[in-house]
Amino acid sequence: MRTRRTLMAVTAGLAASTLLLTACSSGDDNPSSDGSGAAGGDASEVEVFTWWASGSEKLGLDALVKVFGEQHPDTEFINGAVAGGAGSAAKDLLQTRLQANDPPDTFQAHAGAELQDYIDAGQLEDVSALYKEFGLTDAFPKDLVDRLTVDGKIYSVPSNIHRANVMWASPAVLEGAGLDPAAKYDTLDDWFVALDKVKASGKTALSVATTWTQVNLLETVLIADLGADGYSGLWDGSTDWNGSDVTKALTDFEKLMSYTNTDRDGLDWPDATQQIIDGQAGFNVMGDWAEAAFEEAGKKAPADYTYQPVPGTDGIFDFLADSFTLPVGAKHPGGTKAWLETISSAEGQTAFNKAKGSIPARNDAKPEDFSEYQQTAIASFGKDTIVSSLAHGAAAPVATLNAISDATSKFTTGASDLAQYQKDLAAAAAGK
Ligand code: GAL
Repeated sequence: MRTRRTLMAVTAGLAASTLLLTACSSGDDNPSSDGSGAAGGDASEVEVFTWWASGSEKLGLDALVKVFGEQHPDTEFINGAVAGGAGSAAKDLLQTRLQANDPPDTFQAHAGAELQDYIDAGQLEDVSALYKEFGLTDAFPKDLVDRLTVDGKIYSVPSNIHRANVMWASPAVLEGAGLDPAAKYDTLDDWFVALDKVKASGKTALSVATTWTQVNLLETVLIADLGADGYSGLWDGSTDWNGSDVTKALTDFEKLMSYTNTDRDGLDWPDATQQIIDGQAGFNVMGDWAEAAFEEAGKKAPADYTYQPVPGTDGIFDFLADSFTLPVGAKHPGGTKAWLETISSAEGQTAFNKAKGSIPARNDAKPEDFSEYQQTAIASFGKDTIVSSLAHGAAAPVATLNAISDATSKFTTGASDLAQYQKDLAAAAAGK
């Protein structure tokens, strides 16, 4: 019988694992493939499907492509990126292509429930032989490999680990509002006091963008109010979506949304981050791909921006991992193999993650190669409680996320009230 891996199964136990990145000697980072591909088949090119189409995300992809070009000069990289943060446009297009038997040679997917969707649909090949060939079974922490394994098979190779519960702030805006830019906010209530002050100063208190960024904000509020176990219980059925603690979290979410920019629905995440960079907004909640945007803009923490866990979520790491696949029917499986070798190599993971704001999945990366923020993420990942991101495919299947996103959009555009929102979310989570 096929085991259905839930978000909990994918991530539970990661905190207790040896995922702490240590500066030990490297495993297999010396690619041997010349692109001819023991996966068999055409290695002349590889179409790589992502949503890293512009700005700092494209710079991350470019860093990976550079290493790919050095390791596999005979395989042509074809960029199949589709714009739209969090795959907001890419995932639908990908589904259309998969159903038309026209898959890219490899695509970006999130480890966890989202990946399980593709596995259940029979759209992915087992790549566990490549784990042996490239030495990945030892290069990745055992708990991670165990949790990527479904019925003895592994269907993707992770390139990085991101944290979704980060609050970014503009020191200049906070100072202008009479706030200490170095202050830590332990609770949402502490944060509301600061948000009121920024609002009174005439700036946007909290910048946000289109629906998926609002869902990203929502998940962090659910984590803050329900705690790690309560939040994780939303996805395994042990927390009641109709409960009063969820009502409280949604009330806090509604309040947070009242501090946000009204043009939000026409923006994507880089626009909301830019408002922090430009000193137009005080706070922003976003995954740590935002770190790459601050760096791209030449900004330095803590002078130009600050970061801390979203208030109420300290000690919890809201996890997601980008992972690459070999789709059934890929036209250039040799090219896919070459790509998977590069993204899993020590050199590929270091180059990519330095540019992307994330941390490597490999356990032999050197923390000192990474930014100050990333070093805090590395430390947190090693000791925090890990929960799975909703907005980024770790916690719930794509259909559930889509239904939650629709309910959230309805609520934040004023088409439903809080009681209806809670009912809609409960129905979405129950698949109704
Ligand atoms: C996430 C993805 C990240 C980053 C982000 C914003 O879903 O895992 O790598 O791309 O979306 O687009």
